[in-house]
Amino acid sequence: MKRVGLLLCVLLLTVNFRPNNTTTPYPFPILFYFPKMPVSADNPVTIEGADLGRHLFYDPILSSDSDMACASCHKQQYAFSDSPNRFSKGRSGVLMKRNTMPLFNLAWYPSFFWDGRAATIELQILQPVNAHNEMNLSWIAASARLERSAYYKTKFEEVFGGGLIDSIKITKAIGQFLRTLISNQSKYDRVIAGKGRFTEDEYAGLILMNDQTKGDCLHCHTTDADALGTTLKFSNNGLDTIYSPGNYNDKGHGAVTGRESDNGKFIIPSLRNVALTAPYMHDGRFKTLDEVLDFYSTGVHVSANVDNKMDFAYKGGAKLTTIEKSQIKAFLYTLTDSVFISNPEFSNPFQKK
Ligand code: HEC
Ligand code: HEC
Repeated sequence: MKRVGLLLCVLLLTVNFRPNNTTTPYPFPILFYFPKMPVSADNPVTIEGADLGRHLFYDPILSSDSDMACASCHKQQYAFSDSPNRFSKGRSGVLMKRNTMPLFNLAWYPSFFWDGRAATIELQILQPVNAHNEMNLSWIAASARLERSAYYKTKFEEVFGGGLIDSIKITKAIGQFLRTLISNQSKYDRVIAGKGRFTEDEYAGLILMNDQTKGDCLHCHTTDADALGTTLKFSNNGLDTIYSPGNYNDKGHGAVTGRESDNGKFIIPSLRNVALTAPYMHDGRFKTLDEVLDFYSTGVHVSANVDNKMDFAYKGGAKLTTIEKSQIKAFLYTLTDSVFISNPEFSNPFQKK
């Protein structure tokens, strides 16, 4: 039955969604313990499209002074975050207002940015190229530059057929590349697949995180059934004591929905690769995982919008012992995917030429 389903899928992909004859559907790995990967109907990933997107991701051609690429802030060796910087430098050295997010497993994400203000990967990509404090290039100028490049002209024709290069094609190509950034080869993955074993401390950490009377991390950062490491919901994890609704430094999701009850809520980040992406939280306020664990242990604040799934908020924190914290940390380190951060398919394609 499974085989037939798979065959049907492959057939459908090749017959229905193939944009033109020169492209090949991207061979995504089969991931048994991940949720089913949503497929973008109007932007199916092809090998050629993802390769074009990879070139654009690393090419400063998309910034006004041709000195900044997506990869200037999203660095592969840090799981595409900008560790160890709290805030990335945008144009003219101006600091961004939020910590740069890592990029992996985005094909599953229902919204983008810390506050969820972009509904699709493609809409997300529209923002940094235009943003004055980031790459600061208009889409008309970006398209014209790419039109003048014989290399890109040919590549875009190969992937999207004829016609002018525009923002839609550019964001689609980068979106395809971003969807191929799958992190599924950490020690944690090897253990789940039956090909490795946790140490005693790592296993104790996993149990503590899933124990509702201990770490109680599971309601938000999933590590059991859902291998993404996050429920992908918005939540307020008690970083600040804010009782009056008008008093948020960064309203987060509330600024997007306009609802007071969403103020101070941010997307729950995946804990995959978390050892590589310091500092932590939307504002990068914690420098180390130790600081994060101290916060969850004794620094959690109750406020109007604190997540009601966070039982321990009402006693100031999860009150973890030093040993328990070190065990959770040991488990978190098993989520580091060194294959992902050194995968040549995701690296700078210009360096080899
Ligand atoms: C100057 C630094 C900088 C540059 C350049 C930059 N980004 Fe980002 N990126 C950020 C920051 C900061 C955030 C978080 C912003 C927020 O939430 O408000 C972010 C968020 C994202 C996200 C959201 C991830 C998620 O989990 O929701 C994606 C995807 C992304 N960037 C892709 C790109 C792409 C593609 C480019 C190039 C077109 C790019 N970025 C260029 C700094 C940068
Ligand atoms: C009620 C939901 C909830 C619970 C429970 C929870 N977290 Fe979080 N966690 C979040 C949210 C939301 C953020 C992002 C908050 C922000 O930046 O404003 C976050 C951020 C983090 C980060 C920073 C990640 C990054 O990329 O910056 C780490 C690490 C983390 N949590 C670990 C844990 C651990 C370990 C536990 C259990 C002891 C836990 N969390 C319990 C919701 C939760």
